[in-house]
Amino acid sequence: MTVAELRFDGLVAIVTGAGGGLGRAHALMLAERGCRVLVNDVGVEIAGQPAPTASSVVAEIAAAGGAAVADDHDVVTHGDAIVARAVEEYGRLDIVVNNAGVASGGPIGPDAPARWATTIATTLAGSVAVTGAAWPHLVAAGGGRVVLTASQAMFGAGGGAGAYSAAKSAMYGLARSLADEGRRSGIAVNAIMPTAWTRLTQLLPPGPITELLGEHFPVEPVASFVVWLCHRDTPVSGETFSVGGGRAGRVMLAENRGGRIDDLDPASWTAQLRELLDVDPVGLALPRSMVHEVAWQAANLGRAVTSAYRPGGALAWDPHEPGDDHPGAV
Ligand SMILES: NC(=O)c1ccc[n+]([C@@H]2O[C@H](COP(=O)([O-])OP(=O)(O)OC[C@H]3O[C@@H](n4cnc5c(N)ncnc54)[C@H](O)[C@@H]3O)[C@@H](O)[C@H]2O)c1
Repeated sequence: MTVAELRFDGLVAIVTGAGGGLGRAHALMLAERGCRVLVNDVGVEIAGQPAPTASSVVAEIAAAGGAAVADDHDVVTHGDAIVARAVEEYGRLDIVVNNAGVASGGPIGPDAPARWATTIATTLAGSVAVTGAAWPHLVAAGGGRVVLTASQAMFGAGGGAGAYSAAKSAMYGLARSLADEGRRSGIAVNAIMPTAWTRLTQLLPPGPITELLGEHFPVEPVASFVVWLCHRDTPVSGETFSVGGGRAGRVMLAENRGGRIDDLDPASWTAQLRELLDVDPVGLALPRSMVHEVAWQAANLGRAVTSAYRPGGALAWDPHEPGDDHPGAV
């Protein structure tokens, strides 16, 4: 079976942190398919490696016959300037790939706020700044695509990676909430947890994981998935996917039925430990929003809070089906 190539002719994308690693691969693949790309990178050095530059990627795109412009602003402080540059250069904006990220911070402690600030700001404040400045232009373009970059560190990460873990976890809820905001304007927002062999993963202590990454996780398969997410025909929004090596899987926040006590004695919870920690999939719910989560609480208390939560009501939902509100042709 032949699949028609996904094209982006006439469209404009911003890819942040695209001077190397994953961002470079996203920018190259979008440009190969006709997209005009603003390649952003402020050029952060790590472990003595040379700082990536946006202009080198722009030169690669131009050499391959594509259209791109370089930008070296910081996503945290200059989201508006990054967006303004793309719109000045190309007259519109359709796609934002928030890829810039750093992974410093160290263990928790009294000075953690200062040490953790850059890592948290780059992913969270940076994604909000660029996406926020882009939003009116996406609306004006009749819809758009936003990709946020989370990490497997959402599942927890040792070695003093609390800042990184916290910042990346924020992308899950942000994707959900912005997808809801974007629905009426045709803007789809998704997050990825990428796995690829880059200068970032090359910092991991050598061992079986680095061998695995080096052999089986090049950047291009992640870029391929990101480019798919960026296409206007891709009917997915509000999701988070783990992506690497040509595989992608949906990541979901689930909640069990929980335990319950009928008195106010804190000691009563000890007898509920099994129910509290239970992971029987039959008893798991996949709430699509905070409203649905409250409905799940009510259901497990044996109470229908309002008739709206009962079958057929406006807020009724199937707790085991997270995706029936997909926008279709967003
Ligand atoms: N490589 C992986 O397996 C992996 C896993 C999980 C998440 N990620 C995430 O994927 C993204 C890309 O990572 P990578 O592996 O290609 O590493 P990378 O270090 O090569 O890429 C990150 C890029 O972001 C740029 N950058 C950092 N702060 C910036 C800022 N304030 N403004 C503009 N640019 C900035 C850096 O200069 C760098 O070029 C990051 O968000 C990273 O956290 C990567």
